[in-house]
Amino acid sequence: MNPVIEKLNQHRSIRKYTEKPISQSMLKMLITSGQAAASSSFIQAYSIIQVSDSDNRSTIAEAAGGQPWITNAAAFLVICADLYRIDHCCRKTNKTSLDGYTEHFIAATVDATLMAQNLLLAAESEGLGGVFIGGIRNAPDVIADVLKLPELVYPVFGLCLGWPDQDPEIKPRMPVEMILHQDQYRSDDIPSNVDEYDSLMADHYASRQKNQRLSNWSIQTCEAIQGKKREHMLGFLQQRGFLKL
Ligand SMILES: Cc1cc2nc3c(=O)[nH]c(=O)nc-3n(C[C@H](O)[C@H](O)[C@H](O)COP(=O)(O)O)c2cc1C
Repeated sequence: MNPVIEKLNQHRSIRKYTEKPISQSMLKMLITSGQAAASSSFIQAYSIIQVSDSDNRSTIAEAAGGQPWITNAAAFLVICADLYRIDHCCRKTNKTSLDGYTEHFIAATVDATLMAQNLLLAAESEGLGGVFIGGIRNAPDVIADVLKLPELVYPVFGLCLGWPDQDPEIKPRMPVEMILHQDQYRSDDIPSNVDEYDSLMADHYASRQKNQRLSNWSIQTCEAIQGKKREHMLGFLQQRGFLKL
């Protein structure tokens, strides 16, 4: 394995950090690495809000369901999908506005996500650890308000970064054969594949150092997504200029 692939395979979310800060020059380097990701039509449809104000961090941590790592991280970034900038450019070049198009919403969300994953990987390669925070979409209006987001910008997720003060195990991913299909989607294999993966994950949950539990992947993830329906999201996005009818 080359060092990049090795680093990729060592990923695990880090939620506990030492007091050591991250220098602004390192953060800029990490963000530059994030920006090196590919971008649909080269729109670079993202913005990052670095949240340093401690009151704002606490407000966001609470809005995200009380996640203390948001306040404790050396750096906390909100990754936004941003069509505001390119909308300005459309006006500048006398083209029509970008309001509402589903395709542009997808492109901006994907752009922001690719950039953020590159950023996290760059951080991990420097010995930092981090965790994405989808919990900010529990109360996206609070986040938009605190960060003064304009229309056509929405917070996709947060990213906590810091020097690790924990060493959690890597969660085993699905076997490649389970997600790689040859030429056609093989739905018939799903029940047996899932059973096998459930048993692998049951062993992992039962034997890991912390948060041991008797569970498996299906139970765990299906329970988790029930609690994350976030029915307000469509209305919130439409109100910000995305996905309008
Ligand atoms: C888009 C996204 C949102 C996430 N949101 C949260 C979150 O709000 N809080 C949290 O503690 N972890 C969050 N996570 C981390 C996942 O729980 C974690 O990646 C997953 O359990 C796999 O574990 P690992 O990253 O340690 O391999 C998020 C991950 C992603 C990709």
